Amino acid sequence: MPKVKGIGNMREDIASLRNEYTREKLDESSIDINPFNQFDKWFTEAVASEILEPNAMIVSTVSKDGMPSQRTVLLKDANKEGYTFYTNYDSRKGRELADNPNISMLFPWYELERQVIITGQAQKVSREISAKYFHSRPRESQLGAWASQQSNEITDRSVLEEKLKMLEERFLNKEVPLPENWGGYLVIPKTFEFWQGRSSRLHDRIFYQDEMEGTWKISRLSP
Ligand SMILES: Cc1cc2nc3c(=O)[nH]c(=O)nc-3n(C[C@H](O)[C@H](O)[C@H](O)COP(=O)(O)O)c2cc1C
Repeated sequence: MPKVKGIGNMREDIASLRNEYTREKLDESSIDINPFNQFDKWFTEAVASEILEPNAMIVSTVSKDGMPSQRTVLLKDANKEGYTFYTNYDSRKGRELADNPNISMLFPWYELERQVIITGQAQKVSREISAKYFHSRPRESQLGAWASQQSNEITDRSVLEEKLKMLEERFLNKEVPLPENWGGYLVIPKTFEFWQGRSSRLHDRIFYQDEMEGTWKISRLSP
């Protein structure tokens, strides 16, 4: 039987885990002056590179008393206004956004030695937009959205399985309607940061700040 290493025995190995980043560079002469276009370019490259879940992003929200929380969600739409993901409005993130719409989204594209961080404010999309996306999802996912009171405590897994069985009967041969508490958030960006790993830890960080509608101040941040 192989000996399982405890974290205590791995401490030295953890400290020695590191990579040099040498794939690419990011500089002022080649970036797009519009961060939405720069994001499109990097997102297209992330999809083309076939990394796992290129549209997965870590979304941070902040509770009323200032405690941050994070979770992964999937980007489902990008347009000239902002970026949309879908979730349960009564979830922890939904409750926090109701009190404080400030939000941060982070795309961790490690295989590309890249990271993008967008901060801004989230607002609910219209019921029509949410319904259109909801009905494009597989039926099991639609029923799953009904079955889960996301972020609430449950006694065990059977609670979900029984609920799903009940919902399958309730909506048998019927379209599954959009739940009241489920839908999209559109994140309207105020800042973008594009990070490209470089050698000797002297990474490139290009920061865009929304100064006035449509005008973006571009600066370079120290790594
Ligand atoms: C790869 C991945 C994708 C996910 N996508 C979503 C998503 O699009 N929407 C969502 O509500 N939860 C998604 N989740 C689950 C969330 O990370 C989280 O557990 C859930 O939304 C509850 O978060 P909250 O209690 O902080 O509100 C995803 C998780 C992973 C690992």
